[in-house]
Amino acid sequence: MALKLSVIGTGYLGATHAAAMASLGFHVVGIDVDPAKIATLSRGEIPFYEPGLETLLQEQVKSGRLTFSSNFDDAKDADVHFLCVGTPQIKDGLAADLTYVNASLEAVAAIAKDGALIVGKSTVPVGTAARLRARLLEINPQADLAWNPEFLREGFAVEDTLHPNRLVVGVANDRAENILKEVYAANLAENTPWVRADLPTSELVKVAANSFLATKISFINAMAEICEAAGGDVTILAKAIGYDPRIGNRFLQAGIGFGGGCLPKDIRAFMARAEELGASQALEFLREIDSINIRARQRVIELVRKDLSEDLRGKRVAVLGAAFKPDSDDVRDSPALDIAVQIQGAGAIVTVHDPKAMEPASKRFPVLNFAQSVEECVKEADIVLHLTEWKMYREIDPVSLKKLVSGAIMIDGRNALDREKWLAAGWKFRALGRA
Ligand code: UDX
Repeated sequence: MALKLSVIGTGYLGATHAAAMASLGFHVVGIDVDPAKIATLSRGEIPFYEPGLETLLQEQVKSGRLTFSSNFDDAKDADVHFLCVGTPQIKDGLAADLTYVNASLEAVAAIAKDGALIVGKSTVPVGTAARLRARLLEINPQADLAWNPEFLREGFAVEDTLHPNRLVVGVANDRAENILKEVYAANLAENTPWVRADLPTSELVKVAANSFLATKISFINAMAEICEAAGGDVTILAKAIGYDPRIGNRFLQAGIGFGGGCLPKDIRAFMARAEELGASQALEFLREIDSINIRARQRVIELVRKDLSEDLRGKRVAVLGAAFKPDSDDVRDSPALDIAVQIQGAGAIVTVHDPKAMEPASKRFPVLNFAQSVEECVKEADIVLHLTEWKMYREIDPVSLKKLVSGAIMIDGRNALDREKWLAAGWKFRALGRA
């Protein structure tokens, strides 16, 4: 008999995991405390934009293998419960807020049947899994807990979940590992690397990976600052160092830096946890990674001031892009929106366009103006900022766009546009890290 699964928390991670597991043939129930979310998912709709996910979800709901409920009792038959709830940054510090993780552990511990395995996927401070396991065994001594961090990227969530580049399982015994091998049999058949670890190491793998990625981005953005000061070109520098396979060319795109619901909060929570462990010095460099990242946003604003005037009051600024990265409508800690809001705060009239993220962006920052098309966005603008590298922006014809603006100045905050094409069309073209 195939294992029965439950997925607790049906946000980005949980909804994708639930649909993916159902597509592998498991019966899955998705549990969430938000009844509105449950209703949406039960209709086969997802409350955010993620390529391919809605189709997968609809197929699985139709097949009858995937159901959703706000009642934990509906998960009591599950052999494996995946914890996929959020761990946002706390309001008044750097640490992660574990309210949802703690609450869902209590709830699932109360209903889990004998022998059930609870598997954490959320990103948590090291030490959380061991603490939760001890608590679980207090309430429900016949259950067990393992940790299985998730590495999915937004925009590629379905692909990353169905075909991850590795599976990491933090377990306290062979039985837990064997159950997880049954869950991930399809991946093992594809020779996906399998890493067994203890609980703390499995938690650390996730934050270490995100810290490394953040470091790579801030490294290239630091080089961009040097290139600007010395008259170099960071895009050529990145290409040249990337040919060394030890360095690699991915995640070396200089620009306005990283945002989103993961990298910024994960590196901060990691620093906070290191401090609690008395090891803060080891992660001192992450503070610098964070500052370089925030500085990249300021550098765009400085370029705008340089090109327009120190006083931005009344200037018309067009912003292309609101999502924290393309192929996503996620605006959490979006560098693009942060820049837009700061420029608006300095007195400019800012109009934003994004192919997918207009609704979440306008909800979060109603003070900004939003335009339904690129043409409407740039109309009579004194300057245009390209801040999220959607494919549609790379396809813009600079000749026809020039006819709409008042000032033909383009700042490419993502180093993704074809500079020669824009220069040839008569634009003044600026980019971070390119003198
Ligand atoms: C990230 C990790 O990649 C993923 O493994 C983890 O599970 C969650 O966090 P995600 O937040 O979806 O995934 O975004 P990612 O593709 O990593 O990009 C993060 C940010 O870095 C974006 O704002 C992106 O624009 C920026 N970035 C990325 C750069 O500025 N330069 C680059 O070269 C790459």
